[in-house]
Amino acid sequence: MCGIVGIAKRRDHVIKDLIAALKKLEYRGYDSAGIAVLSNGTIHVIKGVGTIDKVINSTRSIKDGNVGIGHTRWATHGGVSKENAHPHISCNGEVAVVHNGTLDDFNIIRDKLIRKGHKFSSETDTEVIAHLIEEKLAEIGDPVKAFSQAIYELKGSYAIASIIKGYNFILLARNKSPLVIGVGNGENYCASDVAALLHKTNRFIFLKDGEIALITPDRVDIWYLSESTMKKVENKIEVIDWSPQLLDKGNYEYFMLKEIYEQPYILNKLANSIDYYKKFSDQLLRYSESGGISIVAAGTSYHAGLIGKFLLSKLAGMRSEVIIASEFPEWSHHVNKSDTILAISQSGETADVLEAVRIAKSRGAKVLSIANVPGSTLTRLSDETAFIQAGPEIGVAATKTFLAQVAVLYIISSLISGKSTVRIKDGLINVAKELESSMEHISTISRRISSLLMDREHVFFLGRGINYPTALEGALKLKEISYIHAEGYPAGEYKHGPLALIEKGVPSIVLVPSDERTREKIIYNIMEIRSRGAFTITIQPKSVNIPSDFSLPLDVKSELTSPMIYVVPLQLIAYHTAVSLGRNPDKPRNLAKSVTVE
Ligand code: F6R
Repeated sequence: MCGIVGIAKRRDHVIKDLIAALKKLEYRGYDSAGIAVLSNGTIHVIKGVGTIDKVINSTRSIKDGNVGIGHTRWATHGGVSKENAHPHISCNGEVAVVHNGTLDDFNIIRDKLIRKGHKFSSETDTEVIAHLIEEKLAEIGDPVKAFSQAIYELKGSYAIASIIKGYNFILLARNKSPLVIGVGNGENYCASDVAALLHKTNRFIFLKDGEIALITPDRVDIWYLSESTMKKVENKIEVIDWSPQLLDKGNYEYFMLKEIYEQPYILNKLANSIDYYKKFSDQLLRYSESGGISIVAAGTSYHAGLIGKFLLSKLAGMRSEVIIASEFPEWSHHVNKSDTILAISQSGETADVLEAVRIAKSRGAKVLSIANVPGSTLTRLSDETAFIQAGPEIGVAATKTFLAQVAVLYIISSLISGKSTVRIKDGLINVAKELESSMEHISTISRRISSLLMDREHVFFLGRGINYPTALEGALKLKEISYIHAEGYPAGEYKHGPLALIEKGVPSIVLVPSDERTREKIIYNIMEIRSRGAFTITIQPKSVNIPSDFSLPLDVKSELTSPMIYVVPLQLIAYHTAVSLGRNPDKPRNLAKSVTVE
């Protein structure tokens, strides 16, 4: 969703750098963009609807400077328009603000400011911040105090960066929206996530809720804002070992394809770091002895969570429940201090997940998390985090991080079950080998399958047991990037309703289990839908030959690791269908990579 950047340099100009950093945030999704630059003591703003490139073309019309802020906007308050794009400036043009988040009750502040003579030019909640800072500046004079007093009046979620005429620094504030500070040499930065700044630095300070900060080219000062007073906080710099090359598409047409192809390498990496997950597994086991385990996640991570529940039950005999993060407030009345939340999130910034975690923490529950992005808010809220080590994921549709989440859940469940490191490693290496050797073949067949789907209105995905969530994931991938309606179902549940939609030619993609008992049942389900005219596509173990209209045989050594194999053709089917339909799989309409609003 909205992305923020800020750069303070000693001498050089910032516009080029602001645009480069903003472009690294494009993957979060946006509809408009803008920058504000301090030059010769004056603030110059340029903003507009459309791509950052469009803004670049018009930057020639503004003066460059050495301190600036930038923004990519994903509309929430107010439509997509130049007026609503950020940065927003105050009446006298002396304060510019960019903001990610949503302010509660901002109309009350707005009305108060209007009564004092402020004139608003947008429908956004953000604009009140600029006017409020201007108001406080007039009262107090000192820019840092004025900024902190303005922030103290805000409610809701915000990551804010602001520049003020005549001052060579950027002021920051954070509450429930991500904001990181990048530490450079003779220049310092801020951004919504580390991906925006990795090409500049690998040294970061992660701001916490309630903190405000000041960054100059040479200094970073942080305070905790409590009861309108500021308490100085020590700067804790962390080094992030993600390589900036991971943010490059290389020879791939799209990030999504690159990320799908990275999967065997990630599996090999995880297979070689099983010991890293021992402490986490021990902790989960210990916590489970005092109460229940609630797995909480959204979207693709929710599907990984369902597989996690299966693995914990099957391998470790451990009871758990899975709650969709956005439903947690309504479905969690039983969760209390003896329980544990196992939160799963790629970004670690999904607002629904964070809200669920905060509710659980407020009741005294323990929080363990499985995350990808170092330093993300979820990791700060957790007692312990297991990182999935997948590297940055730029394609909006989660691919490699789903596989890595499943692999980590497999490792954790296996460790709790007492399986040896060698056996766990073998299980993962086998999957990695099958994917490595079959990737090109899987891609060719998936492209062929996509040609059978691209003119269909509905596609169904069926699975049983551990691959029922894989079917859900296949349907989610197809619908979110190709815009074809797709449904995932447990194959046995199909006859309790959706079978009514089966008529001649409706495609159903069936994931055939390697486990004989479940396979027998799915064969019956396939016969049922074929007899009603469904066009069946099976993804099945090489060792069997289940009749269908089209099939992709794969080497599946174990049912428990099969989701990591079966999901890959499903990702590639979605990818090829989207590309054949002329849709950009990296940036599906209406979707954002990091969903930071509830
Ligand atoms: C789908 C997808 C989303 C995310 C969901 C949760 O391809 O990417 O459904 O899985 O928004 O995101 P995280 O895992 O960052 O909490």
